[in-house]
Order: sequence, then C-alpha cells, then structure tokens
Amino acid sequence: MSSFSTPLSKRLGLTYPIVCAPMFLISNKEMLLACAEAGILGAMPSINARTSELFRDDLKWLRARTDKPFGINFTIGLTDPERLKRDVELAYEFEVPVFITSYGNPTEIVREAHKRNVTVLHDVINLKHAKKAEAAGVDAIIGVSQGAGGHAGTINPYVFVPYLRQNLAIPVVAAGCISGGEQVAAAIVLGAELAYMGTRFIASEECGAQADYKELVVKSDHNEVVYTDKVSGVHANFLKSTIPGDTHTPGHGADSAKRWKDIWSAGQGISLIDETKPIATIVEDIVREYHDAATRL
Ligand SMILES: Cc1cc2nc3c(=O)[nH]c(=O)nc-3n(C[C@H](O)[C@H](O)[C@H](O)COP(=O)(O)O)c2cc1C
Repeated sequence: MSSFSTPLSKRLGLTYPIVCAPMFLISNKEMLLACAEAGILGAMPSINARTSELFRDDLKWLRARTDKPFGINFTIGLTDPERLKRDVELAYEFEVPVFITSYGNPTEIVREAHKRNVTVLHDVINLKHAKKAEAAGVDAIIGVSQGAGGHAGTINPYVFVPYLRQNLAIPVVAAGCISGGEQVAAAIVLGAELAYMGTRFIASEECGAQADYKELVVKSDHNEVVYTDKVSGVHANFLKSTIPGDTHTPGHGADSAKRWKDIWSAGQGISLIDETKPIATIVEDIVREYHDAATRL
C-alpha cells in the first residue's frame, strides 16, 4: 500500500504519519512491535511496566526485535520523580527516539533529550499549555480535542488543530476521535503532521485491555461515553456503564490508578469501531481509507 507522509513523519522515519497513542495500563510492548512493523509509531507509558526493572525488560525485548522507531510516554506529574528519572535514563540507554510528555512541565526532559537527538512531543488541551511547552523547546504539540479517550479537551478539532497551527511555530499533532483513514486525511487537511489515535487501538488483538473492555468498545457508540472529573479528579472520557454509582472525586495517586483498572476510558471514536483486529490489519484499513478519502478531495 503506498506510503504517505508529512515533514514530521519523515523526520521520525515512519511509513505513515500515524501514532498509536500511549494508554495507561493497556498499552504494551507487543503493540509497539506491531506498530513498528506496520510503519507507524507505537507508544506506551513507561509506568505500564510495574517497576523500572520491568520497563528495562520491555525495552530490551523491543530492541531485540526491531530497530524501527517507537515512543515512550512520560506522565510527568503522575509518576514518582525517582521512578521518572530512572525510566528516562533507561530510554536513553536503549536509544528510544521519541518521548511523549504529558501531565506536567517538560522543560527538564526536553533539555536532556535534545542533547541525545530524541524528539519530544507534548500533549495539551489548550493554547496556554501549548505555548508553555513550545517555550520549553518541545518539537511538536499534540492537541487533544473534545471527545478523545483519556484526559480529553473541550475544543472541537476543526478549530483546535488550525488554531494551534496559527499560534505556534512548531508542528501540530491531531488527537481525539480519529478512528479511521478518513479522519487521518481530515487531520492532515487541517494541517496536522501526525494523527494520534488511542481508542481505535484498544480494539486491537495486541492491546492488553481485557476481552470485555474491547467488546464494549466494539459494540457501543458515543452515547456510552461520558466526560467527567468524578473518576480521577481531572476531566476524562469514560465508558458510562463501567462507572459505579457511588463514584466520588479521589484525585491522583494509587487510588486513581486502581480506578482506571476497573473504570474504562475510551473516546467518542468508538462509534466508528466495529471489530477487534490485529494492528497490521487496522493500519492496512486506515491506509486504504486514507487514499480513498484523498481521492475525493
Ligand atoms: C484508556 C486510555 C488511557 C490513556 N492513558 C494515557 C496515558 O497514560 N498517557 C497519556 O499521555 N495519554 C493517555 N491517554 C490519551 C491518549 O494517549 C490519546 O491522547 C487519546 O487516546 C487520543 O484520543 P482517541 O482515544 O479519541 O483516539 C489515554 C487514552 C485512553 C483511551
């Protein structure tokens, strides 16, 4: 299938300008390998490995199987600072080429990362945080729009992506509700240099989500998605039927992590996801749909 690219996807060495976005608890090394083989960028939070030692094992496993790029997500404010430091060092040791920073100030990580040629993408839901991250030196801004899985924003992507572009000098990555090739094409038309997709990859065979989580993503539509701060203290999109009636606002930390295990997150993009498939097939579908959509333009 013929490749397509943007300046940022070329710089990262990808066949397609697509990222399988990091997802707390459910992204794993198998996904990263399948993405690398399919020509897109897979990413996972370092803390999906329970300890730094297990994170090292994951990196070793990946490096033994691919020399293609993959990314690691550092959830700055949600990770114990010592753990964060160790994981960042391990990422350097195994020459991880892309860092994705979220939930905090990326300044320190960027400074070191650039000495080692690592590209840093930073995820935001508004221009204020995008400007701060740009000033900190990140290489691209991930604009997380309304309806995204995880900690989503409130701005419609038709506005948010071009608005970020108009106000930033660095590339913009579009996130939120991108479930197929038509939306990848739309994101690129809006000026995004990568399409950043989480929810679509929950329903992949390689994903670590349990079977009934994947099934709920496949069989539900956006009416099942609720935007609330009652689960973790920060607004995020969750699957309504997994939220217990007595949910209160506990804030971050271990309690919050436990909640993400039982209360499942997904974005409005579930309306367009009908089947769990291997990542290779999902990417083939996206590429075909992208080319069909591009022909219509
Ligand atoms: C279950 C789930 C867990 C997530 N966990 C993280 C995380 O640990 N770190 C992070 O930066 N983003 C996280 N996100 C957000 C995704 O990286 C990405 O921004 C989002 O999935 C894009 O929107 P989409 O799901 O509509 O494709 C998570 C999203 C989901 C669905």
